[in-house]
Amino acid sequence: MSKKYSIAVIGGDGTGPEVVAEGIKVLQAVGDVSGIGFEFVDYDFGGERYLRTGEVMPESAAEELKKFPAIYLGAIGHPDVKPGILEKGILLKLRFDLEQYINLRPVKLYPGVETPLKDKGPEDIDFVVVRENNEGLYLGAGGFFKKGTDREVAVQESINTRFGVERCLRFAFELCRKRAKKKMVTLCGKTNVLTYAFDLWERAFHEVGEKDYPDIKLDYAHVDATCMWMVKNPEFFDVIVTDNMFGDIITDLGAIIQGGMGIAAGGNINPDGTSMFEPIGGSAPKYTGQGKINPLAAISAAQMMLDILGEEEASRRLEGAIVKACGKLKSLSAGRMGYTTSEVGDLVAGFAAE
Ligand code: IPM
Ligand code: MN
Repeated sequence: MSKKYSIAVIGGDGTGPEVVAEGIKVLQAVGDVSGIGFEFVDYDFGGERYLRTGEVMPESAAEELKKFPAIYLGAIGHPDVKPGILEKGILLKLRFDLEQYINLRPVKLYPGVETPLKDKGPEDIDFVVVRENNEGLYLGAGGFFKKGTDREVAVQESINTRFGVERCLRFAFELCRKRAKKKMVTLCGKTNVLTYAFDLWERAFHEVGEKDYPDIKLDYAHVDATCMWMVKNPEFFDVIVTDNMFGDIITDLGAIIQGGMGIAAGGNINPDGTSMFEPIGGSAPKYTGQGKINPLAAISAAQMMLDILGEEEASRRLEGAIVKACGKLKSLSAGRMGYTTSEVGDLVAGFAAE
């Protein structure tokens, strides 16, 4: 065995633990053929733990997780916990504390997978969204004034730093070079209204792009137009770079055109530290424990993990297995796959071992 990785696992809430179990099964199968060993260390963070102990995560969690090269996350969100507590206390806290400043979300339609876009196929839908993951509206800056009165004021500010924006842009340019497709990065913003935040983004985009990436074409689209083009002409895009909030929104649109939450994966990346990989769908509480949820999104997240760990050959092998499995499933939707959750894991593991 050439390499061994110790991976932190946060199964989390709802169907999270079920899909992560399939991802682990598949990673072990890929590891066996590729000569990579894995050790998985479980953390019980999530709604159940919070309801039991009153604590979302121990103070030491982020420090402890920094020891791992990667975290594999199922889902965060529990029907009995007020929205925001677990999301902010676990998911966003780890993204921030571990400086996972990139949220990488590939939008790729695999052959045999149904897209709601008429007359579009795998050759048309293959781009990547690079979402800034540590700033913007997500920092939680702002507050209330006269809360609960009829004069109430609520302010929610978007924080954008030159440093944070620039490192995100550089990641997008580097990725675009590596993909070697259209060699085009689209900045998705709203320069016509958000004239401070996206002024900074746009200036940094041109300065960095023109100086250090002359081989890459610089493109710009407002966020509303980006949504329109993603539906009308998805083949236009190569790499889209955008802020945290717009990135959140357009990647749900991206997920649906690549076949839905059953397949869409994301990576929260700190290129110099601990990254965290997750299916981008939620905890789907109504399917918990029924063997109906599609684990392919979690398995795709595991594939991205291999790629970011530098195990590119193993990652390609796994992607090939995912593509084959996609060709077998009746549908990617929960309960309509023609297989159980664990059978889909077996299917991919089998293809990966071929
Ligand atoms: C996502 C999710 C999260 C986000 C939520 C759960 C906080 O929607 O990963 O896209 O908004 O980033
Ligand atoms: Mn989202």
